Amino acid sequence: MNILLLGSGGREHALAWKITQSTKCSKLFVAPGNAGIGNIATNVALNPTDFNAVKQFVLDNHVEMVVVGPEDPLVKGIYDFFKNDTALNSIPVIGPSQHGAQLEGSKEFAKQFLVKNNIPTAKYQAFTKDTVDAGCAFLATLQPPYVLKADGLAAGKGVVILNDLNDAQEELKNMLVDAKFGDASSKVVIEEFLDGIELSCFVLTDGKSYKILPTAKDYKRIGEGDTGLNTGGMGAVSPVPFANEEFMQKVEQQIVIPTINGLKNDAIEYKGFVFIGLIKVGDNPFVIEYNVRMGDPETEVVIPRIKSDIVELFQAVANETLENTVLEIDERTATTVMIVSGGYPEDYEKGKVISGLDQVKNSIVFHAGTAEKDGNVVTNGGRVIAVTSYGNNFKEALKQSYENVEKINFDKKYFRTDLGFDL
Ligand code: AMP
Ligand code: GLY
Repeated sequence: MNILLLGSGGREHALAWKITQSTKCSKLFVAPGNAGIGNIATNVALNPTDFNAVKQFVLDNHVEMVVVGPEDPLVKGIYDFFKNDTALNSIPVIGPSQHGAQLEGSKEFAKQFLVKNNIPTAKYQAFTKDTVDAGCAFLATLQPPYVLKADGLAAGKGVVILNDLNDAQEELKNMLVDAKFGDASSKVVIEEFLDGIELSCFVLTDGKSYKILPTAKDYKRIGEGDTGLNTGGMGAVSPVPFANEEFMQKVEQQIVIPTINGLKNDAIEYKGFVFIGLIKVGDNPFVIEYNVRMGDPETEVVIPRIKSDIVELFQAVANETLENTVLEIDERTATTVMIVSGGYPEDYEKGKVISGLDQVKNSIVFHAGTAEKDGNVVTNGGRVIAVTSYGNNFKEALKQSYENVEKINFDKKYFRTDLGFDL
């Protein structure tokens, strides 16, 4: 069948790599894609949130399945757009309904869902412009550090953690009254700070049953030793060594099962990935956040560890027969190291020629932000290339990734050399 994948990053390159390995896929289109994706699929100059343009393309090209990479089209309701259109409603969209996408689109919705389903999470309260004084008073009842979260999507920048009470109260006013994150911060969730180590759990669901995919840990900060500004992610490891069987039992019983049951009980249609951001406090898992898509760069280590045919899994999701499928996992560890543009996550330049891609051996190169220009592959984003490797453990896999990272070059290239330092 013909498949359309929406998105353009390393996550989408990894998904495209896996989808094109399936005998069920005759043609893969990726909108808008990137230079690396263009080598294995057909890039299409389409904006994933222009649903009418997506519709026209799907009908003109006999697309029989749509896989959604990023959250934006999901939060804007692409699932419902297909479902409610008579020409499109037989074409499955892999992703949640707009209602389900609120788990990522609204922090308050997610917190209410967590509390209602007795899922362990930090205590919280939500405030608006009209209750800013109550918010300041609530902050004064908490111990530092203070965690403030813009309710809506804020391009990954909407969470602010501060140590000083006055700073936190000022920031709350900035967010609510001065609309620091625009509409996204018209409501702010304030929550208790949880002290622990983070990891991500990925679940594929058809709304009735679920499969737990490999765990992963990403490295969000730009600097060595987890210092400096937050990024989209500088690398990742799967599986997470400290997420042992006993811990994962707790995750399944206390978090995954109540999440799927919660969706069912509220009749929330959900046929796609659930990305559960976890924090391990002592020996116990708590939910930090939900995302309604795969993570990036976590996908670049999770997908290579799935042995099963992913298109068959997606078909089972669409047909609500996931329960009858078997998920086969590669026992090896996978790691990815992200090469980024100097200056990222602040200002950086684009259009730098990338060399050495053909020198890479025994790793998989996933393009994150690249384009093709005059026969060259050039940088086209902050995160540029993810180098994924397998190994018997994370140290072995990282060594392999780093060996190949050294071979890829462009002006002002930067990467973290310390991934796995905390494991
Ligand atoms: P989020 O966008 O909700 O994942 O938050 C971004 C980051 O802020 C997380 O990855 C955590 O590192 C941190 N964070 C969020 N909530 C908390 C919390 N309650 N306690 C400690 N750290 C948090
Ligand atoms: N790497 C974190 C995310 O995709 O949100």
